[in-house]
Amino acid sequence: MTTMSSQLNGLLDVETVSKDFPILARTVRGGNKLVYLDSGATSQKPNQVLDAERGFYTRCNAAVHRGAHLLAEEATDAYESARLTIAHFLGAVPRELVFTKNATEAINLVAYAFSNATAKSAHGRALPDGADRFILAPGDEIVVTQMEHHANLVPWQEVCDKTGAVLRWLTVNDEGRLDLDDPEHGLESVITERTRVVALTHQSNVLGTITPVERIAQAAHAVGAIVVLDSCQSVPHMPVDVSSLGVDFVAFSGHKMLGPSGIGVLWGRYELLESMPPFLSGGSMIETVHIDSSTFAAPPQRFEAGVPMAAQAIGLGAAVDYLNALRSVDGSKHGMAAVSAHEHALTTYALERLTEIQGVRVIGPQEAHDRGSAVSFVVDGIHAHDVGQVLDEMGVEVRVGHHCAWPLHRRFGVAATTRATFYVYNGPSDVDALAEAIVAAQKFFKVI
Ligand code: ALA
Repeated sequence: MTTMSSQLNGLLDVETVSKDFPILARTVRGGNKLVYLDSGATSQKPNQVLDAERGFYTRCNAAVHRGAHLLAEEATDAYESARLTIAHFLGAVPRELVFTKNATEAINLVAYAFSNATAKSAHGRALPDGADRFILAPGDEIVVTQMEHHANLVPWQEVCDKTGAVLRWLTVNDEGRLDLDDPEHGLESVITERTRVVALTHQSNVLGTITPVERIAQAAHAVGAIVVLDSCQSVPHMPVDVSSLGVDFVAFSGHKMLGPSGIGVLWGRYELLESMPPFLSGGSMIETVHIDSSTFAAPPQRFEAGVPMAAQAIGLGAAVDYLNALRSVDGSKHGMAAVSAHEHALTTYALERLTEIQGVRVIGPQEAHDRGSAVSFVVDGIHAHDVGQVLDEMGVEVRVGHHCAWPLHRRFGVAATTRATFYVYNGPSDVDALAEAIVAAQKFFKVI
């Protein structure tokens, strides 16, 4: 049997990291140690994030960007300082960063820029300079991939329904990677002069596949299309520098990267943000308001209508500080480089352990290169929900189902998979617990 203690030498000190996460001290289902392998759905929160949120409410709670009193001033400073921290983390500047409720809202914000600009232009209404890039005509094309999470698929289907644009997609090969060189479904046939938007994931939440973003963005920009990247599973797990990725928009959620729920981020190239009509409207996002018309603030405020989620933004800032401060045991790597190296080693080990078990089939790349730590699999003869139930009884918490990627599951001819996802608080013993629980499930259902 494979063992891996030597492979993790020099990576994160999981025992010390875990102590920062109070929830990991609890036991579950009759006293079992909690083995949390569902960070792809949502991550656990360290004390540093919990304290930052509580600190906001206990020291300076006020509605930001309103009010002239001390608390409002301090709350606004803390909120904007979180924007600065997160912008630096991404290689961006603060005015390019819009706070949203989650990544789904961030993607919808961009999608609605297209349908709203198209609708306003049809009625001859005022639009920001440069908004013609967001006006779609019947026959224009929007390109997605077969591995998209519903959050980066359904909003684009909606844009097509509202504007007459046509949805096309890049396909996935048997290995679980994009089929970019396929003569019929590859880059050259799918991205054409008609393409106006290319929306893709940076890392599949099911397969773990990291997509070749630079190559796709180059092809998209060569025909003048806008590139929207769903980075929910990449920003939490590896260094992401938006200034060198070559895309136009990046969306991600705070809760998947040790931050609170209720906070997401949209990064956008400023000249594009400036050209976009608003998504949500109301207070805070205006420049002037008359009874029959209004003008709008510059980004990012144009896209932050209403009292924003200040405590959550501050919590996300603390999560970024926490990730930046992580160091490998041997001191050779820090921040996101250490996170990504740690997860790479765990993924390599998990793939080895799972493929050793007869009757277990990993859906997605079987090797850890260009791959993140989402490992989905089927166990022959047992439905994913039953696998999940036995694992749960043993304290191993995974996600089961289609993981909001139904078309991808159809592509692989499976109704559901069991998915383990790893993060900074997981170590090799968690992989061992997963492997042992899968074998226990096979024994329970008498398939071995
Ligand atoms: N998008 C999250 C997942 O993949 C919820 O589980």
